[in-house]
Formats: sequence, C-alpha cells, structure tokens
Amino acid sequence: MDIVRLHPAHIPHVQTCNITNLPENYFAKYYLYHALTWPQLSYVAIDLSKPPTSSNDPPKIVGYVLAKMEEEPVDGIPHGHITSLSVMRTHRRLGLAEKLMRQSQKAMVETFGAKYVSLHVRVSNKAALRLYKDTLQFEVEKVESKYYADGEDAFSMKQDLGFIW
Ligand code: ACO
Repeated sequence: MDIVRLHPAHIPHVQTCNITNLPENYFAKYYLYHALTWPQLSYVAIDLSKPPTSSNDPPKIVGYVLAKMEEEPVDGIPHGHITSLSVMRTHRRLGLAEKLMRQSQKAMVETFGAKYVSLHVRVSNKAALRLYKDTLQFEVEKVESKYYADGEDAFSMKQDLGFIW
C-alpha cells in the first residue's frame, strides 16, 4: 500500500471511492480545486498488490483524504479542514484512514502553520467517531442540527495541532 499526494489524474478514481462510501459527493472541479490550491493536504491510498499490466491500467485507489485550509477563518486562526475521508470496505481496519489523516495534518502544520483541524461527521457514524475521538484525539466542539441534506445532525469536531508536531 502506498500513500501519495492527490494528483489531478487520480480524481475520477477518488470520485468512485467517494460515491461508493459516502452520500456527500462533489463535482470533479471541487477535487481539482483542492489538489491545485493545497497540493500538500490531500492524499490517496493505492493498492500496489496487483501491479498494472499495461500503462492504461488505472491506479487502484482504495482510500483518500480530501483536505484544505479554511480560506476565511471566522476566528482568525489558521486552520485546516477535512472535506472528505473514506476507505473502500475491502481495505478497512488496516490503518489507512489513520495514515491518510496524519499525513494531511502534518502538512497542515508544516506548510501552512495550521493551529487546529476541523471536520464534520454524522452523529450516527460510529466507525468514524471512534477514529476521530479515540485514535486521533479530536474533540466535539458542537452539534450542528440538520447539517446533512437528509436532516441528520453533525458533530463539528476539532483537533488541536499545536502540540503534535
Ligand atoms: N468500528 C470501530 N472502530 C473503528 C472502525 C469500526 N468499523 N473503523 C475504524 N475504527 C477506529 C479504530 O479505533 C481503529 O483502530 P484499530 O483498528 O486499531 O482498532 C482506528 O479507527 C483506525 O482505523 P483505520 O484502519 O485507520 O480506519 P479505516 O481505514 O478502516 O477507515 C473510515 C475508517 C474512514 C471511517 C472507514 O470506515 C470508511 O471509509 N467509512 C465510510 C466513509 C466514512 O464514514 N467516512 C468518514 C466521514 S466524515 C468525513 O468525511 C470528514
């Protein structure tokens, strides 16, 4: 398994991964905006166990993190934001999400001086909540009522990056 920066050529495969795993989906140009504006922050996990047989074979993208810097932070503090994270079912519980997240968070600090990172997650998403709370030490900042299109609430979460790197 290899973790590499999101490249524009990866975008259709990342979109497939996103559509397979999450109801929140985005146009290709939104991925491209992330990749071109903050190229250090978004990553993909590529399964190298079956090498391509021809140069036309697409890379086997099995996970991604799409991340950005908040462009106009209301609190005036530079911080990152996780737009989307997912890993294909076939490749879960291998530590890929944790690796993708840590790589992005490190770059947020080193490249952009981020003080913290934020995200939203469905209140019912037990797996992601375990990852964020227990593995990565995010904290719930507030509940955002009916945040999602289907009416579900979101936890707005934050992780202080000040003392990690
Ligand atoms: N149940 C309980 N705890 C879990 C689970 C689970 N199903 N999955 C991960 N965790 C926790 C565990 O503590 C785990 O450590 P352990 O395996 O040593 O016990 C830790 O998180 C790290 O797990 P990873 O292997 O790094 O996580 P994985 O690569 O499997 O990906 C993810 C986790 C991204 C939540 C995956 O289940 C997924 O893609 N789900 C569907 C999409 C999704 O919900 N994405 C997040 C939406 S929020 C957002 O995008 C900002």
